[in-house]
Amino acid sequence: MKAVVFHRHGSLDELGYEDFPDPQPGPHEALVKVRAVALNGFDPMVLRGIPGLKTPLPMIPGADIAGEIVELGADVDRHLWRVGDRVTVVPNQADGMMGETKRGGACDRIAVDQTYLLPIPDAVSEVEAACLPVAYGTALRMIETRGRLRAGEKVLILGASGGVGTCCVQLAKAIGCEVIACAGSQWKAARLAELGADHTIDMSRQNYVAEIHRMYGKPRIRGGGGVDVIINYTGGDTWAECFRALTAHGRLLTCGATAGYDPKTDLRYIWSFEFNIIGCNGWTIEDQRELLRRVADRRLKPIVHSQEPLSNIRKPFEELIDRQVFGKAVLIP
Ligand SMILES: NC(=O)c1ccc[n+]([C@@H]2O[C@H](COP(=O)([O-])OP(=O)(O)OC[C@H]3O[C@@H](n4cnc5c(N)ncnc54)[C@H](OP(=O)(O)O)[C@@H]3O)[C@@H](O)[C@H]2O)c1
Repeated sequence: MKAVVFHRHGSLDELGYEDFPDPQPGPHEALVKVRAVALNGFDPMVLRGIPGLKTPLPMIPGADIAGEIVELGADVDRHLWRVGDRVTVVPNQADGMMGETKRGGACDRIAVDQTYLLPIPDAVSEVEAACLPVAYGTALRMIETRGRLRAGEKVLILGASGGVGTCCVQLAKAIGCEVIACAGSQWKAARLAELGADHTIDMSRQNYVAEIHRMYGKPRIRGGGGVDVIINYTGGDTWAECFRALTAHGRLLTCGATAGYDPKTDLRYIWSFEFNIIGCNGWTIEDQRELLRRVADRRLKPIVHSQEPLSNIRKPFEELIDRQVFGKAVLIP
């Protein structure tokens, strides 16, 4: 079969579209013909190499997979699965995370243990299903399970234009929050407004802390000013900086560190304003099922930036690195 493969960590030049051995399904596995695979912000990071993360090489990127069952292993439950079923894959598996510590799905076919398959509802396309697992799953966990956002709360979202961000905006709006969405360019800020953000901040021209002070006042230790919740998976310089926009007793949610995982902090803000810093990692199979239901009911919309043939892998990788993606970049084998 054909697959996107890298044999060592490095630049985009390491990414190849090449022949790869066909997967053979084990007794408990289904062979899935991949119809769509979505990229995530972490794919270029894994290509470069993430300190402390052991990536098996050669590696096939792509954690978010949707497709069709074309063969069943001998012990797969025939009451649950049939050849021809449209399925999506749960990528965070017991033996690793696909695209990170286990081979991903940017290829023609993939063998998947039956416990990591979910049926795609009729009303959901394969492209939509492929957008959901990693980014939308983590957004759901962050906004609802860990963050417990409530109607009327003011929520500042940094990096709102990406996969996680576009879902956070939709989920927070559905709860009834007032959403302030930040992007790195004017065109992305405009798209965030179309998506329903109440306010947008173009960080290439505006200082988001000053904007929050202008809109809601400067946070005061005895209460008032700032926003109730900040979602910051950008990290880097924005980490300590965003403390100045958070109200006393506010919640700061993080699931990643796109711009740097060991930023400077400022403990004075954390104790003086009694912040609650909440980490968030991954999601559950039930979360992924719930997302499929919401997309089927049109309560949630996967934001598709592009659909490229698998052979054109370089373009979406380049766009992710250059911050030119709004929502999800999808590949079609
Ligand atoms: N722990 C978990 O389970 C988990 C799961 C999913 C994702 N994550 C993490 O969450 C973060 C977002 O993931 P994602 O898939 O949504 O990524 P993404 O689609 O690439 O979106 C990230 C956004 O961050 C903004 N950004 C700000 N500073 C940046 C920088 N220095 N480099 C690149 N982008 C920058 C970009 O928007 P602008 O250009 O508009 O600013 C970009 O659209 C990543 O750090 C990822 O590793 C963690």
